[in-house]
Amino acid sequence: METKTILITGANGEIGHGLISHFAEHDGVRVVALDLNTLDDVTRSKCYKSYTGDILDNRFLDSLSTGHDFDVIYHLAALLSTRAERQPTIAHKVNVDGTLNLLEMAVTQSRLQGQVVKLIYPSSIAVYGLPDAGAKNKAGRVHEDQWTGPRTMYGINKLYCERLGRYYMNFYRQLDAQPMEGKVDFRCVRFPGLISAVTLPTGGTSDFAPEMLHQAAKGEAYNCFVRQDTRIPFMAMPDGVNALLKLESAQRANLSTQIYNVGSFSPSAAQLKERVMKAFPSAKIDFVPDLKRQAILDSWPADVDDSLARKDWGWKPEYDFEKAFQEYLVPGVLKLYKSK
Ligand code: NAD
Ligand code: SER
Repeated sequence: METKTILITGANGEIGHGLISHFAEHDGVRVVALDLNTLDDVTRSKCYKSYTGDILDNRFLDSLSTGHDFDVIYHLAALLSTRAERQPTIAHKVNVDGTLNLLEMAVTQSRLQGQVVKLIYPSSIAVYGLPDAGAKNKAGRVHEDQWTGPRTMYGINKLYCERLGRYYMNFYRQLDAQPMEGKVDFRCVRFPGLISAVTLPTGGTSDFAPEMLHQAAKGEAYNCFVRQDTRIPFMAMPDGVNALLKLESAQRANLSTQIYNVGSFSPSAAQLKERVMKAFPSAKIDFVPDLKRQAILDSWPADVDDSLARKDWGWKPEYDFEKAFQEYLVPGVLKLYKSK
């Protein structure tokens, strides 16, 4: 079996940890990890190489590209929605300029290697922008081309980068006299909020669900920053990792688009509380809505239509709401906080 070399940017984040753990258990993959923050020793030991660096540092990216032949780039590095709203210009730089740098790296790599390089990109339900809660309730499950008028810097960044990826794949340097050498195979999933049993998110707006669970597991009170009726789609982290892997390994000929919704379950915040309380009956969870963050959540869809992903590359989540809690989240957080 040939060994693939995979670059993961944002490797120290939640999805990065999940992906690295997955690859560590499989032969035939060399993971090159990159993050602004140095990986912990255990995660580092699972990688072929790990680098501490900035995706905005072109010199650093050039040296990385000179030293490795990447078959696939998982470009995860980003500032998430709440943080991006607080630091919009930095978010724009990291989320947009950083993605442009990685697309350029993919083209260069592809030219030098004489083969297509895949770039796998996690976009988000933040690309949607429903005008208010009423429209959201009416809209139901949205498909990829509906309501794409985001109201956050992060959502705008993600939507634009989806389009950049599509451009690099289909139209890059379209006026050149000679056909372009070097091809990027851009593939993108629009993730719902992800919930991990082993890591906690920072800087997202869907963070209320994982925070509620982890605080309960730690025995700490939690003031949930959304209304009880707030509903957005969520997914258990193993399914999130699996969606990226499955899309990466799909035959290009089967892919009718570059951008796919992926869904799993879509509980209200009240249902999340109820399920967390079932596992941790003495948990103290109150709802203290932050009206500004609430407005962002009210602009995200209650659920997504992921029928294209199901049809084109066989997407199917392993975990529904109950199974996610029963078999992954609750056992996971119990183990995590018992060992601390
Ligand atoms: P995370 O915040 O846990 O990880 C992001 C990582 O990127 C961090 O480790 C951070 O240090 C790194 N990073 C930030 N700026 C960088 C820079 N300039 N150079 C190098 N590294 C940098 O996020 P995550 O949950 O692992 O998300 C990964 C990707 O998936 C992001 O693109 C995010 O937008 C997307 N996504 C996540 C969710 C979710 O619920 N977690 C949902 C939708 C989409
Ligand atoms: N979980 C992410 C956030 O809240 C959605 O992309 O920012």
